[in-house]
Amino acid sequence: MQAIAVPTIVEDRHAFAQDARRFLQFSQRRLPSRFLYDALGSALFDAICHLPWYRVTRAELRLLRRHANTIGQLLHAGGRVVELGCGNGEKLATLLTQANARGVHAHLIDLSEAALAQSVQTLATVAGSAIRVTTDLATYEDGLLALPRENAAPTLIALLGSNIGNFDRPEAEAFVGLIRATLYPGDYLLLGADLVKPERELLLAYDDPLGLTAAFNKNILLRMNTELGANFVIERFTHRAVWNAEASRVEMHIVSLVAQDVEVPAATLRFRLNEGETIWTESSYKFEPLSILQLVEPAGFVQRCQWIDAPGRFALTLFEAV
Ligand code: TRP
Repeated sequence: MQAIAVPTIVEDRHAFAQDARRFLQFSQRRLPSRFLYDALGSALFDAICHLPWYRVTRAELRLLRRHANTIGQLLHAGGRVVELGCGNGEKLATLLTQANARGVHAHLIDLSEAALAQSVQTLATVAGSAIRVTTDLATYEDGLLALPRENAAPTLIALLGSNIGNFDRPEAEAFVGLIRATLYPGDYLLLGADLVKPERELLLAYDDPLGLTAAFNKNILLRMNTELGANFVIERFTHRAVWNAEASRVEMHIVSLVAQDVEVPAATLRFRLNEGETIWTESSYKFEPLSILQLVEPAGFVQRCQWIDAPGRFALTLFEAV
């Protein structure tokens, strides 16, 4: 297999420092969720996907396996799959091998170098030379903007893992618009989105009894300590997941257990956290089958197929750009 790394637009410390400075000063302090995924964060997220309480990945893999042929037929030789946030590459590898895809070009965009390296390896192991791989270490937006336009064979953009749910509504709309702008009519979008389910199940998925999700979330504090010279004492924080039914989202917070002063030198920032005050690190919106169409179609897509995994309450929807 030939693996080419395209010139990268690196998500560097400077961007982390700038965003930390901005988002940590909001009255509800926040941090953008993409900073959760350094090498340790990506490894912890991989582990989360094996937890019995986090069913998103398994449900999506079942659907990809079952419908790989239908999806694969769109990608005749010379076609291109662009995966946004490929993680460990398992989902794309499953799709391409089950579809017996050959001569396909896989273009992987992820902001974790470790995840990209792992994906290249996974694809090489399962597909050998049948698939050409390029990687781009970039945010989704930068990766899409830098994506070479190819009109000859169809492009399928895959946004899996319910990653669309990590955007707030206006951002999700703008993001789908950006995806559409990088495609030609006749290209495709394959979107995996988690569905609303009982609150107890949702909370266990984002606050698991083994504490992996807590570690994944608090790792962002550790990352600020190592990369930005911050002085967060990790033991003085805890993880919290909240289901906000009105907004249809699980919110992930890091809660300050005591009143404490913190410093983030690289972001030229010092502030006091009150006892119980939180830093909001991520939202994970949950959808209804119809709300997925309502989000995506106005950007210039029509739904071709929507497959639902009943046990996991998860939807995989295939859209065609029009
Ligand atoms: N895209 C995943 C989701 O929303 C990301 C995720 C899973 C996540 N578990 C998490 C993010 C825990 C933060 C904390 O399901």
